[in-house]
Amino acid sequence: MSAGKEARVYWGTDFKGNDIAVKIYLTSTVEFRKGLIKYLRGDPRFENKIPKSTRKLMSLWARKEFRNYVLMHQAGASVPEPITQFENILVMEFIGKRGEKAPLLKEVSLSIDEYYEIFKNLIEDVRKIYQVARLVHGDLSEYNVMIWKGRHYIIDVSQAVKVSHPNANEFLIRDLRNIRKFFTDVVGLEVPSLESLYNYVVGNANELEEI
Ligand SMILES: Nc1ncnc2c1ncn2[C@@H]1O[C@H](COP(=O)(O)OP(=O)(O)O)[C@@H](O)[C@H]1O
Ligand SMILES: [Mg+2]
Repeated sequence: MSAGKEARVYWGTDFKGNDIAVKIYLTSTVEFRKGLIKYLRGDPRFENKIPKSTRKLMSLWARKEFRNYVLMHQAGASVPEPITQFENILVMEFIGKRGEKAPLLKEVSLSIDEYYEIFKNLIEDVRKIYQVARLVHGDLSEYNVMIWKGRHYIIDVSQAVKVSHPNANEFLIRDLRNIRKFFTDVVGLEVPSLESLYNYVVGNANELEEI
C-alpha cells in the first residue's frame, strides 16, 4: 500500500480472514539512523539499548512504534489497534476495507462541520496521548491522520516520545502548529490560538477556548 524509504505497509488478512495492516521496517540510511537516535536518546525505555546493527535497530524501532500504539490505544485515543510485533514487523488493525486503505486527512474533502468535528476530536486525542499515555506524537500532520467512516485515526507513531524527553515540548508545539495550520490555511476554519491549544493539551486549562 505504501513504499516509504524506511518502511513499507502491506495489506493482509489474519487466519480468520480479517483485514490487517503489516508495517515492515527495512534497511536504514545513515540519515535515517541519525534521525532515529535523536528520538531514542532521552527516552528511558530505549536510550541505553541503542544497537549498532541496522537489523537490530529496525527491530527496536518497530518495537517502539508498537509500544507507542499500545499506550495510545489504552489511553483511548483513536489509533489502529496494535496486534503484534515481531522483529522489524508490526501488525495492526487495517484502516479501510478489503485492501483499500482509507484516505489521509490531506486527501479527503469534507464539509466545514465535519472538519470542525475532526479538529476537535484530534485535539482531544492529543490531550489523551499527553495526559494519559504520557507521550507526544512528534510527527503529527494531515499526512499522518487517516479518515474512515467519519472518524479520524492517528498513525505513524514510531517517533513518539515520553513527555519527559528533553525535546517533548518542542515536538508538541510543532505537532499543534502543523494541525492548526492545516485547519486554518487549507480548510479555512477558525480555531483556537496555539497557546490555547497547548494549555488545554498539557492541562493548564480545562477547557478549550470557544471560537
Ligand atoms: N493501519 C493502517 N491501515 C491502513 N493503512 C495504513 C495503516 N497504517 C499505515 N497505513 C498507510 O501506509 C502509509 C504509511 O504508513 P506510516 O505509518 O505513515 O509510515 P511512513 O513512516 O512510511 O510514513 C500511510 O500513509 C497509510 O496510507
Ligand atoms: Mg507517515
